[in-house]
Amino acid sequence: MKKNVQISSVELEKQISFMAQIKALNTEEKYVYIQTFGCQQNEADSERLLGMAAQMGYMRVSDAEKADLILINTCAVREHAELKALSITGNFKHCKEKNPSLIIGICGCMVSQEHRLGDIKKRYPYVDFLLGTTLIHRFPEILSSVITQKKRFFWIDPDTAVIAEELPVQREKGGSSAWVSVMYGCNNFCTYCIVPYVRGRERSRRPQAILDEIRALIADGVKEITLLGQNVNSYSPCEPEDYDFSDLLTDICALEGEAIIHFMTSHPKDATHKLIDVIAANPPAKNKIGISRRFHLPLQSGNDRILKAMNRRYDSARYLSLVSYMREKMPDIAITTDIIVGFPTETEEEFQDTLKVISTVRYDNIYSFIYSKRNGTPAAEMEDQVPDEIKSERMRRLLDLQGAISKEKNSDYVGKVLRGLVEGRSKTNPLRLTARTENNRLIHFEGDDSLIGEYADFFIEEAEAHELFGKLVK
Ligand code: SAH
Ligand code: SF4
Ligand code: F3S
Repeated sequence: MKKNVQISSVELEKQISFMAQIKALNTEEKYVYIQTFGCQQNEADSERLLGMAAQMGYMRVSDAEKADLILINTCAVREHAELKALSITGNFKHCKEKNPSLIIGICGCMVSQEHRLGDIKKRYPYVDFLLGTTLIHRFPEILSSVITQKKRFFWIDPDTAVIAEELPVQREKGGSSAWVSVMYGCNNFCTYCIVPYVRGRERSRRPQAILDEIRALIADGVKEITLLGQNVNSYSPCEPEDYDFSDLLTDICALEGEAIIHFMTSHPKDATHKLIDVIAANPPAKNKIGISRRFHLPLQSGNDRILKAMNRRYDSARYLSLVSYMREKMPDIAITTDIIVGFPTETEEEFQDTLKVISTVRYDNIYSFIYSKRNGTPAAEMEDQVPDEIKSERMRRLLDLQGAISKEKNSDYVGKVLRGLVEGRSKTNPLRLTARTENNRLIHFEGDDSLIGEYADFFIEEAEAHELFGKLVK
């Protein structure tokens, strides 16, 4: 049987008492400012950090200058993400100069790398603590240590892989939607990727804990829930034995209420027909919990030699057959993917294989990334790194191809009526609102704020590659 990695009740009690101790010290109103980089896992972690901060008497502020506590939750997936986090950290130096009692802490994936420790200790002397991803349940303890001992603390331990249930959470995603982590960590070691080194080994939450959390969210009026994990298809709790991600989805869909379930991310090597069948059997419907018709299935490369060098453990034929099976079962499913351009040794012909798969699948959207060398990963050591100009040129061609496909696919909706959940004011034109369809299309329309959080029907008048424009149907 798998090891239970839940933190002990003694550990939980210890953190709860640190929270009470800090709350007692904070006799006046205190403020926390948080900046989050990276993926949804980090967003979910920030909600837990804010939840614990709230219990310790810190209210959230959107202005760092007013804060008594600044938290920077970092990402390390590409160099650009790290550079951004470091530059933001640099910006907070003046806050500390103005307010010497300000506490600054860096959490997340960037500081879970050994080589960052010394670097931050030396170059950022105004940073009070570093807390690795696998230790965030010990946030009250590290904060108490900083406050009472007036010293700096640097705690990272990517090899501890624990699960901390029952910590307070302050949900930020918005009233009608929420994240729910189902598992943490990754065991796949794709050769380009830093995540397994900074998030520790895979561990899955108990199904009962997940079901209880979802039940409570639905009772609170949440309508969309995104299940999170680096590879949700390898969800595998200690018990029941042989219980997998499709079983979890089945159990979630059997709960009472009305909500749509999304999940990410799926690894093609572990996506099964059983999983696809469960999704197909549980469409979203009135008074039911259903699974959205969106499937994010990262391809990374369409060339079999590169896939092997990436240690992805599937080939393009397996990938394409999964896509065919999905479309056979759910013709309306929206499929999206991640692509890495310019993996070391990638030739022009091999890159063209990726374009071929893109043309065959005709994705609804692609998240494409220029390969970024990550310290300590096998790909960083490979000879024949692809020159920057070639990587950028390949990226441009890939974006052009996908732009044309997305526009064509979106044009099919012109003249049709689509249903969507109204999200809020449009970021590009505040006179409009936006709604998101079940298959993740963004619709811009004119309407009033009372619609936010509601489902509505829209007549589509115009289509661009990344958005639709429509009218509310009365
Ligand atoms: N667990 C998820 C992905 C997490 S990282 C999965 O396996 O699909 C999100 C995406 O970032 C990856 O899918 C990959 O496309 C990209 N990525 C990861 N490491 C990268 C690197 N070193 N350079 C460029 N892109 C990278
Ligand atoms: Fe990274 Fe691969 Fe794990 Fe995804 S599956 S997090 S790409 S190692
Ligand atoms: Fe970044 Fe960590 Fe997510 S490296 S992508 S924040 S798991």
